[in-house]
Amino acid sequence: MRIKRKSKLATKLGLFFLISILLLEGILFMVLYFGFLNERIMAETDALLARGNSHRDVLAKHFNRETMEHVALMESEAETQVVITNEKNTILVHSNKVMPTIEEKIASSNPLPVTGAIVEGDWGEEPFVTTGSPIFVDDELVGNVYMILDTQGIRDVRDHLTTQFLIISGLALFLTIITIIYLSRIITRPLIDMKIATQKMSTGNHDVSLKVDRNDELGELAKAIQSLSDDLLRLKNDRSDFLANIAHELRTPLTYLNGYADIAQREALSLDERNTYLAVIKEESENLTSLVRDLFDMAQMDQQGFSIDRESVDLCPLIHQIREKVKPAFDRKGIDLKVSCQNDIRLTIDPARFSQVMLNLLDNALHYSEQGKHVLIDVSVSQKTVIIKVVDEGEGIPVKDLPFIFERLYRVDKSRSRKYGGSGLGLAIAKEIVERHGGSISANSEEGKGTTMTIALAGVE
Ligand SMILES: Nc1ncnc2c1ncn2[C@@H]1O[C@H](COP(=O)(O)OP(=O)(O)OP(=O)(O)O)[C@@H](O)[C@H]1O
Ligand SMILES: [Mg+2]
Repeated sequence: MRIKRKSKLATKLGLFFLISILLLEGILFMVLYFGFLNERIMAETDALLARGNSHRDVLAKHFNRETMEHVALMESEAETQVVITNEKNTILVHSNKVMPTIEEKIASSNPLPVTGAIVEGDWGEEPFVTTGSPIFVDDELVGNVYMILDTQGIRDVRDHLTTQFLIISGLALFLTIITIIYLSRIITRPLIDMKIATQKMSTGNHDVSLKVDRNDELGELAKAIQSLSDDLLRLKNDRSDFLANIAHELRTPLTYLNGYADIAQREALSLDERNTYLAVIKEESENLTSLVRDLFDMAQMDQQGFSIDRESVDLCPLIHQIREKVKPAFDRKGIDLKVSCQNDIRLTIDPARFSQVMLNLLDNALHYSEQGKHVLIDVSVSQKTVIIKVVDEGEGIPVKDLPFIFERLYRVDKSRSRKYGGSGLGLAIAKEIVERHGGSISANSEEGKGTTMTIALAGVE
């Protein structure tokens, strides 16, 4: 399947960018067009009207041909034109040649107010703006002064602005395309790569490699996804290892059970022999039961269904109780078990789970020590933290194995541990329980000298 690499985000951002620029530019254009140009034309027409009015004032005093020609002569040098008519709007004098359109306009113009008026103000469409001022002599209308201004200049400015507006729009469009390309390279391409990576991961393909060399948020996200993928891969491998180990763990006792059951079934067996085989079968099935129980505990821990029911506990009596429980097994093997515990240490813990941890540690101390050795449970308190040590003089743990003994199913010497029915789950469970209590567990060991397991639990009352 070909994965679509089209970058929707970049297009969206780019269009947003384009619309923003066009909007801003449009507003600017409107302001210039209507504000600036209109204001300028208004100022010009006002000035035109004022000039017409002042010509009118002169003509009102001397309404004769000479004055009219004088006024026309004055205007002939200016940008503007003047047209003087009689009261019927028949042209008497003009400064420059009068265009027929202007002539028509003047001929059709309405009677003008005394203050004068704008006869044509549409600078956008008409080539000229025109004002008119009536001339009164002794309160009688004798003629009109029309002033005419060419609007070409202002229209040029407008056309120039329009061209610029179009150029800027084109430029914005170009910049938008560049931005879209840039954004899709810089922002959305890595996002799309990450999307593809996560899709791959969700289909169970953990062979993901993302570019993680950027040191921004996208780089961090890529790193997070990469490490998630690596973790998933590791978990997947761990799980298959674990399953393979479990299968192996189960197969061994089952082979024994099967084998001994076959032998025990033989008819020619004495009662003693049969009992021996049955005892082996019983022991193996007990081992299996305990393995299954441990596995069940582990499964519960993984599913968060493992509850810790805390209560206030007087630690020393609990430790002595545990000692009493394991004492017979220690006695049987001829190992001395001592407890050193100061009185009155109160802690809020789950006594059943805590006992499970201690039994696991003591079980190891018993199994991995020889007859005649000593084991000590030493309890002390320092800075509101209780330190519980299980010290043995057993065979110890090789340095190379020490970092792994808390891992599930890890055993130093498989055959040796197997002899005692050990499966390598005891310490993993102990560690989990201690950590759920907010504490820590660690091991110190020297081969041939002994092992010290140390639990630290905070919160002594
Ligand atoms: N006190 C000890 N002295 C020597 N080796 C030890 C001691 N405690 C643990 N070990 C080593 O660490 C390994 C892991 O211990 P752990 O208790 O997890 O498993 P186990 O005792 O083999 O099986 P089980 O699940 O029955 O406890 C053991 O197999 C053993 O090799
Ligand atoms: Mg053990």
